[in-house]
Amino acid sequence: MSSYAAHIATVQARFDAALAATDFDSVLVYAGQPRVAFLDDNAAPFKVNPLFKYWLPITDSPKSAIYYERGQKPVLFLFQPRDFWHAPVTIEEAEWQQHFELVVIDDLAQLTERLGNKLYASAFIGEDFAEPVASWQMKARNPQALIDHLHFHRAIKTEWELENLRIANERAVTAHLAARDAFLAGKSELEIHHAYLAAINFRESELPYNSIVGLNEHGAILHYDVYETQAPTESRSFLIDAGATYRGYCADITRTYAKNDGFFADLVAAMDAAQQALLGEIKPGLDYYQLHVSMHLKVSQLLSEFGFVKGSAESIYEQGFSSAFFPHGLGHFIGLQVHDVGGFLRNDRGDSFDRDVRHPFLRLLRPVEAGQVFTIEPGLYVVDQLLEEHAEAKEMNWDRIAELRPYGGVRIEDSIVVGDNGANENLTRDAFGKLES
Ligand code: GLY
Ligand code: MN
Ligand code: MN
Repeated sequence: MSSYAAHIATVQARFDAALAATDFDSVLVYAGQPRVAFLDDNAAPFKVNPLFKYWLPITDSPKSAIYYERGQKPVLFLFQPRDFWHAPVTIEEAEWQQHFELVVIDDLAQLTERLGNKLYASAFIGEDFAEPVASWQMKARNPQALIDHLHFHRAIKTEWELENLRIANERAVTAHLAARDAFLAGKSELEIHHAYLAAINFRESELPYNSIVGLNEHGAILHYDVYETQAPTESRSFLIDAGATYRGYCADITRTYAKNDGFFADLVAAMDAAQQALLGEIKPGLDYYQLHVSMHLKVSQLLSEFGFVKGSAESIYEQGFSSAFFPHGLGHFIGLQVHDVGGFLRNDRGDSFDRDVRHPFLRLLRPVEAGQVFTIEPGLYVVDQLLEEHAEAKEMNWDRIAELRPYGGVRIEDSIVVGDNGANENLTRDAFGKLES
């Protein structure tokens, strides 16, 4: 059996279980359609419903839908506009076609005619802001219990999903290497961003998220996506958090570079070593939360060793200082979505973990299990707004912190496939190993 055949069998079994548990016989998964700008007819880039692309690698066919009745062959209503405004869509022969009944439509009325009364008994999953979809009479629209059930099990990836994630990482790494070279050549943030896209022939809307391309101080702005058009007089440091997609699956990679040897290069190397030490701790049975705390202790150790904060790692963590330098979560699930779903779910009945008061931005609280894929992305930055809270703390070494400020900060982000007993796969470092010359 091919990996895609095994994947679709798993998806089908997961839908069977979810539908049975939530009292539905069938579901219509709508791909979605682009939104247009206010008072305008210009469409925003189309982002397909992730539960649509879970079934098959079609990401660019708005108004398509999958109808699935428990235990039956799924039906794909593939929408192909037949008019002279749009480029004709060609359906290349692909393996998924063996697993679907294919119905090509150019009007959604053809879908409702074909399904008739079956729609009344069916759950709808998708966006329904536009007609005629908004008026379809369905048994339920986006029922939370059904979605939670599906989201809970999506955390365990199939082999086909892993193959796609490997290629997404290789694409992103190819682009990261071009971006690094552009930084070393003294290019502006916008030029670096363009070098990234050119290296993999991507248009910007194909990226899984807005790339963070920050030189110098900009490395400390967690969601920086301004892209200065002029290169700074001196490019000291570079933080890039940027991904790629393959068949709808996402890569999410961060690297930080120093232009010259010295204190910041040492900090990047030390963070890299600390991140890799944490990677060695990942094994099924732990809670991801424990990894997050363990990383905080390692970041606290760096804060102490580099002289930013006085005290032992434990005391730096206990007093909350590490959260001022490392404010975000250690990572998140990744797959069909960059921030893949289900990180707060305790079970497939929709019970959830409460967000942690001490670490409110951590979006993954589940126990670690083999087959999960998540990121590990520790950081250490000078974020003045957060440091202000500790303005009076005698443990803070403000002179030393001032030395770091012109470099922004450091983050290193890899995606990990959890294996049995710590036999994990690092999708990101494997791709760097393959592509770095
Ligand atoms: N690039 C988004 C993130 O790292 O979560
Ligand atoms: Mn991430
Ligand atoms: Mn990232």
